[in-house]
This record gives sequence, C-alpha cells and structure tokens, in this order.
Amino acid sequence: MKIVHTVQEVREAVSAWRKEGLSIGFVPTMGYLHEGHQSLIQRAVEENDQVVVSIFVNPMQFGPNEDLESYPKDLEKDSLLCEKTGATLIFNPQPEEMYTGDFCSFVDMTGLTKGLCGKSRPIHFRGVCTVVNKLFNIVQPDRAYFGQKDAQQLAVIKQMVKDLNMNLEIVGCPIIREEDGLAKSSRNTYLSKEERVAARVLSQSLEEGRGRLEEGETSVQVIREIIRGCIEKEPLTKIDYVEIVDAKSLEPVEKVEKTILIAIAVYIGKTRLIDNFTFEC
Ligand code: PAF
Repeated sequence: MKIVHTVQEVREAVSAWRKEGLSIGFVPTMGYLHEGHQSLIQRAVEENDQVVVSIFVNPMQFGPNEDLESYPKDLEKDSLLCEKTGATLIFNPQPEEMYTGDFCSFVDMTGLTKGLCGKSRPIHFRGVCTVVNKLFNIVQPDRAYFGQKDAQQLAVIKQMVKDLNMNLEIVGCPIIREEDGLAKSSRNTYLSKEERVAARVLSQSLEEGRGRLEEGETSVQVIREIIRGCIEKEPLTKIDYVEIVDAKSLEPVEKVEKTILIAIAVYIGKTRLIDNFTFEC
C-alpha cells in the first residue's frame, strides 16, 4: 500500500490501473478511522481490484464555530488499518493541494440539503458536494462507499451523482455500532467518561421509537415525542433535531405510511452526534 499527497500521484496510479483494465473502489474519509470506515474499505476490497482511501479533513464543510481545528488525526494508525484491510492507495492531500489560491467553483444542492443537518450546518453540504465531486474527478472510481450513519450525506451524494450524470455507483453501507449501541464516529473521542455513558441515549431512544413503530404506531408526532422524551431524561443532552422524514425525499411526513428515515442529532456536552434508522412499512 502506498500513501500519496498530490493529485498527480493519484492520477498516475489510476491511469496505470486503467491500462491493466482494473476496477477501482473509493472510500472518502476525514481520517481517524474506526470499524465503521473499515467496513466500507472491506466492502470496497471485496468488490473492486484496487481500493483508494482518501484522508482529508475538508475545511470547506466546517462552519465557523465547528470542530475543524480539533478534528482528531492519526495518519500512522489510519494507514495500518487501511493496509490490513486491503486498501491499495491512501490519498492524503494538504488543503492547498485541494484548494489552490484562486479556487472559486462549488457544487451546491437545493432540496435535500435544507432540512435535518442542513438546518444547523447551512454550509456543510456545499462543502461535502464540492470536495466529493473533486475527489471523484481525481480518483475516477467505479464505485464509492459511504456509511448510512450520515444518511443525509448518502442521499445528497446519490442525488448529485444522478443529477450531474457522474459515471460511478454509490454504495451505502450499514451503521457499525459499539457494543452498547452507540454508532461508531471519530467524534466519539471527544466524549468524557461521563458523556460517553450519556451518549448511549441516542441509540436507546431510537430503539424505543422503533419498538413503537413495530407495535403499529403510525403517528409521527407520537414517535417523535417518545424519542425526545427518552433523550431529555439524560441531563447531559441538548437536542438539535429529532426528525421523521420520507427516506427518499427527506421531506417531513405526517403519517407512517411509506419508508421513513428517523434521524436525530444531539449534543452530548459540546459534542454533536447523529444517528438514524430506516423503517419500512
Ligand atoms: O463523511 C465524511 O467523512 C466526509 O463528509 C467526506 C464524505 C469524506 C467528505 O469530506
């Protein structure tokens, strides 16, 4: 496995693979990799001849008061995980390599990006779409792998690929959880011991909601209140949102009658965590 830092080096590797007729899988990440990322790399390895992992903390997707400066980094540990999982190339550019001084082009999206995380992170998806578009142009993969934990991001990327006629397949992969249910996230490392215990309430509240749905509850308001009530019992939490939306359009629904996405964002102390599940009626 090789680690490269420039666009040129990726292009050279890709062009050599293409000459040999090899397929390319791609896993875009911001590093500090965990078992969630590893499951994406694993799937990419199973389905492609070569696998590129990008490790780039993209400044463009962070708002002014967010955690860009403190985002955790450990390239050495990340490269060990990539190597043992079977990735072939890590692309780890500096911000100047991705955004030259005269950079002024963006990929923006209406609709899907307005609700859920887009409400409290208004510039986030423009940054994600722009960087993912650039990375797709650099790596030119056949398939790219994204986690279902960022359900809105996955929907946005799928829509971007469709709208802009990009020639690759987007593969969504299941959420990987800790033993106590907390969804794996690089941001879990921000949690103190006490906060880590409190963070279990995210998955617990979703399980309560899921239970009521399985019993046949069809009122979105009732489900939302059950989830909110469960989260609010935990004193270290502050709810950003608890939303029940159509799984495809991400528009709020009033009744449970189609496939729905139940998505939450909750602050545990200063750390904002997200989680979700999809429910099919
Ligand atoms: O999900 C992430 O880690 C990031 O949003 C992504 C897709 C790597 C773009 O920076």
